[in-house]
This record gives sequence, C-alpha cells and structure tokens, in this order.
Amino acid sequence: MTQDPKVGTPRAPRAKLTAPAIIELKRRGEAITVVTAYDFPTARFADDAGVEIILVGDSLGTVVLGYDSTLPVTMADMLHHVRAVTRAKPSALVVADLPFMSYQVSVEQAVENAGRMVQEGGADAVKLEGGERVAPAVQRLVEIGIPVMGHLGLTPQSVLAFGGYRVQARGEADQERLLREARHLEQCGCFSIVLEGIPSRLGAQVSRELTIPTIGIGAGPGCDGQVLVSHDLLGLYLGHKPKFVRRYAELGDATRCAFEQFVADVKAHRFPSDAESY
Ligand code: KIV
Repeated sequence: MTQDPKVGTPRAPRAKLTAPAIIELKRRGEAITVVTAYDFPTARFADDAGVEIILVGDSLGTVVLGYDSTLPVTMADMLHHVRAVTRAKPSALVVADLPFMSYQVSVEQAVENAGRMVQEGGADAVKLEGGERVAPAVQRLVEIGIPVMGHLGLTPQSVLAFGGYRVQARGEADQERLLREARHLEQCGCFSIVLEGIPSRLGAQVSRELTIPTIGIGAGPGCDGQVLVSHDLLGLYLGHKPKFVRRYAELGDATRCAFEQFVADVKAHRFPSDAESY
C-alpha cells in the first residue's frame, strides 16, 4: 500500500456536506468516500480524515454487537448509535441505515422510522435496501424532505432469501433487473445508491447510466464512490475478510498487544509508576 503524501497533514475546516453536494461531487468527477461509524470517536476520526459520508450501517449488528447477521438489529440499537455519531457534529453527511423490518411493513412505517432517525437521531439522510419493492417508501420520504440512499445487489437484509452472502446479478436477466431498479430509485429521488457485491462491469455500467452517484462495496472501481465498513478497514473485525476489503491498519492486533502489555505490567508491578500516581 503506498502512502499518499497528503495523509497526516491538517485539513482546513469544511462546510457541512448535504445530499445535493454529494450529487455535485459526481458531476465534478470527484470520487466520493464513505466509511461506517457507530460511535463518537470514530465519527470524529473519519470526519477529520475528510470522508464525505459517514454511514451508521446496520453492519453494527455483526461488527459491534456480535450477531451473525444484520437481521436482529432494531430501531433502538440504530438510534443509540446514530445519536453517538451525530454528537460528533461531523461535516460529513450522516446516513442512518433503516434496520430490517423497520420499513418493509408499509410506507407509513418507513416514514415514521425514517423520521425518527432524523428527528431523534440527528441523521442527515437514511438508507434502505431494495429496488421496486421499496420505491413507494422512497418516493414518500423524498416528498417529505428526507434524503434517501438506495442499496442494491448483495443486500445483507435478504441473506436468508439469497442463501448466503453471494455475489449477485451474475446473469444477464438479473443484471438488467438491477439496472432497471437503479434507474427507478433515481426517478423516485434517491440522492445516491450503494451497489454491493456485484460484478465490476455492472457497477461501472450502472454508474455511467445514472446521474446520481453510486457508492460501491465489492462492486469494482467504476463506481462513483467507495464505502468500507470501518472495522474491516481498520483490521478490527474478527470474522471472514471478503475479497473486496483492503485493510489500512491492524488495530485488532495492536489492541490485543496493548492489553497483553497492560496485563504483563500489572502482574510485574511495573504499572502504575510514581509519575502515574498521586
Ligand atoms: O450496514 C452497512 O454498513 C452497509 C454498508 C456495507 C454499505 O450497508
């Protein structure tokens, strides 16, 4: 991995990012960066690093709460973490994921829960998974003024239907359907769409055909932006490392070493020192 010379240099304060500003980045041809955050310090670090979007993803369920999938995550879980992130007052746009069964029952349910993310959580936008089936909810949310990010491809809330976390839309018919659904979400007013776990060629094609930005995760370099789950990026997740993940740090190893050192120091009466005592 090559280190960019700008890494580590202080950044000028920036204006708050909005949904229209994210669309404008695509128009200018500027790549969009998105990471997940679930707590105050990570949100601060991500914002200081210059990411444009902080996603409070329901990946919270697997990387923080220890579930096997995102399905058990509730509105209460999400709101708790969305609030922690928005307390960091990031300039980045904060997108809150709507968890499984918080928007599928009816448009009214989607409106109520998206409204809670904005009103109680302080989120700037919401994300929901799916194409045609969520279109009426997307349309209504946009009408009432809540910016919506779509999510197509390997949508983790459909893991039971997919029979596992498998790359989607490999066949021609599925590719045409995904393209159609992406166009439909754009027409319904989404300001961007996450494309997850699809062939690179399709990621690039969708990105060329839409005027709103695509944010890829395992969808190749042709997307308008890229998102990674921060625990994957930082080497903090103990589970499977998918092919699309690049680790920029090994904080899991560093954390274990630090704890081991603390244990060794206390056992050997090397901590605390006089300088660390009152
Ligand atoms: O929940 C999440 O973190 C996500 C990203 C993987 C896009 O939806």
